[in-house]
Amino acid sequence: MFKIKDLKYKNILNIKYLVIPEHKVNCIVGQSGSGKTTLMRMLNKLISPDAGTILFEGNDLSNINSVELRRKVVMLPQTPILFDGSIRENLQIGLRFAEKNEETEAVMLEVLKLVHLNKSLDENADKLSGGEKQRLSLGRVILLNPDVFLLDEPSSALDEDTEQLIIKAVVEYSKKNNKTVIMVTHSKKVASTFADNIIEIKSGQVMEE
Ligand SMILES: Nc1ncnc2c1ncn2[C@@H]1O[C@H](COP(=O)(O)OP(=O)(O)O)[C@@H](O)[C@H]1O
Ligand SMILES: [Mg+2]
Repeated sequence: MFKIKDLKYKNILNIKYLVIPEHKVNCIVGQSGSGKTTLMRMLNKLISPDAGTILFEGNDLSNINSVELRRKVVMLPQTPILFDGSIRENLQIGLRFAEKNEETEAVMLEVLKLVHLNKSLDENADKLSGGEKQRLSLGRVILLNPDVFLLDEPSSALDEDTEQLIIKAVVEYSKKNNKTVIMVTHSKKVASTFADNIIEIKSGQVMEE
């Protein structure tokens, strides 16, 4: 899916070679400050390498239109970004930004169920707890139906039991729908339970397995 060669970015990332396979759950692990978020942002073309190449489906990322890329590759940022308004509006706004059609109530409710958010669509997003906000923004990303999910610590605000529940649901959904998951996680348990492929980053470099 992604292939990285001789990538350099400031003094933050230095990756000689990395292949991220499609239709797999790829977990990125490593200490805080090692460059995990920077790598995710690079895969979504929010920043570009100083040197080296990133291939997506065999094409150089620098030649792919950012908007086109982000239809296929959607990033869940480390800190959830929610808007003033209801859960419904927060789900639909992602689709609007992506210039996709609105989804029906039934589909939205299905997504809320998937992320175990037992709330009415009319409820104000402001009132949600940190963990609920994180699940709502995960729901928004799932609604966009991309080929690749870039999930940056999607369960950081969840207790361990909820974390297992949510990640399991997302992994099952992804397997069933042939999605590729690239997920940063601080949880060794999540990585060992769900990853098909573990990528360890240390001081901006990819460690050999
Ligand atoms: N925009 C930026 N400019 C300069 N340094 C940055 C920027 N963003 C992150 N960094 C630095 O790059 C390193 C890696 O950050 P980050 O990718 O966020 O790490 P991680 O997600 O693994 O915790 C850190 O030392 C951080 O301070
Ligand atoms: Mg990070």
